[in-house]
Amino acid sequence: MSEKDTIHLAADLSFLHTDFLWRMPGSWAGYPYYSSSEFYEEIAKTAERGRMDLLFFGDTGGTSEDFGGSHDAVVTNGVKWPRHDMTPMIPILARMTKHIGYALTMSTTYHHPFHCARVFNALDHVTKGRIAWNAVTSAYKWEAMNWGFDVMMEHGERYRRAQEFLEVAGRLWDSVEPDAVVLDREEGLFLDPKKVHRLDFKGEYFKIRGPLPALPSPQQKPLIIQAGQSGPGMDLAARFADLQFSTRRTIDSMKEHRTEIDKRLLKFSRKPRDLGILWSVRVQVAESQSEARAKEKAFLDAIPPEGGLIEMSQWFGVDFSLADPEMTLADFIDQVCETNGNLGTFEEILRTTSPNTTVKELGRDYLTKRIMAVEGTPKAIVDKLERVHFETGANGGFILGRGYHAMNNIRDFVDLVVPELQRRGLSKKEYSSGTLKDNFND
Ligand SMILES: Cc1cc2nc3c(=O)[nH]c(=O)nc-3n(C[C@H](O)[C@H](O)[C@H](O)COP(=O)(O)O)c2cc1C
Repeated sequence: MSEKDTIHLAADLSFLHTDFLWRMPGSWAGYPYYSSSEFYEEIAKTAERGRMDLLFFGDTGGTSEDFGGSHDAVVTNGVKWPRHDMTPMIPILARMTKHIGYALTMSTTYHHPFHCARVFNALDHVTKGRIAWNAVTSAYKWEAMNWGFDVMMEHGERYRRAQEFLEVAGRLWDSVEPDAVVLDREEGLFLDPKKVHRLDFKGEYFKIRGPLPALPSPQQKPLIIQAGQSGPGMDLAARFADLQFSTRRTIDSMKEHRTEIDKRLLKFSRKPRDLGILWSVRVQVAESQSEARAKEKAFLDAIPPEGGLIEMSQWFGVDFSLADPEMTLADFIDQVCETNGNLGTFEEILRTTSPNTTVKELGRDYLTKRIMAVEGTPKAIVDKLERVHFETGANGGFILGRGYHAMNNIRDFVDLVVPELQRRGLSKKEYSSGTLKDNFND
């Protein structure tokens, strides 16, 4: 995305109440859960004050019955539930802000590229070029059942469909050339027909005549995000994405990931700088180390012992409530592979966890250590972020992943961490006036 070393900053707003964050004092204080645009407006203004680049809305449309065989666990505990459709929030937030961009998730497994291309073209117009699409292949069987499937589409096929989906969506966005609009009243020429193209696309999954019946939008195509971590997921990102999210947990696995994606980028005739990575990070910051510790303790205390196991069951599609005390994750490899869900993430957990760790031990830490976590003073946090950024290629930045709540934690990040990043010249002090893609080129 960018030739520069800037640390770009984003926040994932998908998990602000989940992971038991709804139990934290100050979480959503003064706002109704989920339904309030005022809540998100306040976050957007705060994030823009911190010159952050992107607010991200993930999405899944299922209600997991994996843990204990019913939806009781996820509903009782508010684990990744509810998930409202955040599309209507985007124009409201775009009106409240000038620079920060917004990422919306749409599944390549359940939607149609024509609909997707139209929606993101329209969102790009109304946000004045500040929209991103998180193109997901969807890895949850309960979501599949809401879209009419008895069995979730197999992992490899989901990615084959995604390749075709992204290819044809791109062609739809290109079907009207940026300078096609003439608007010559005297000549009576609205658009130049030579610059409007049919696709006549016929693939394995989609048949689309085209063109997209819409004017070209400021970015022409949304900024494209992909978060698959498996081989096919990495290929999809390398071929189409501008940004990738990654939940790698250690510097070593981040470095390996960067090397791997760079190799795949070359395979698709792209260069490493064409794809930035936002590493997920959980930040617990305060003026003093002891205050940061106390905040972290309050967060840990809010999570019941089975919290991580419920989340793991949902994530990997397996009922971990049935795990005997001594069972390790390796005992579940076959079961997880059969669900063909989040295979890339599962492989990462296996690679970065001692094989003797029991499922219960893993579950205890799953919500708190699943992504890189940093705790301490602004200086300590920025020391760590700086080191990770430069050791992993200085090509992207960080996304506040999970385990933080609004408004307190996001304000702390903007008021304490961002000034230290800016003081060291690591992140921007001002936005250039442009599109979201331009922001990521700063
Ligand atoms: C950081 C991150 C964010 C993700 N966000 C979503 C999401 O919002 N919705 C969704 O359905 N899947 C989401 N996923 C899942 C991926 O898009 C993908 O379907 C999943 O990781 C399985 O593919 P893989 O085996 O290639 O990793 C996310 C994954 C990661 C690592």
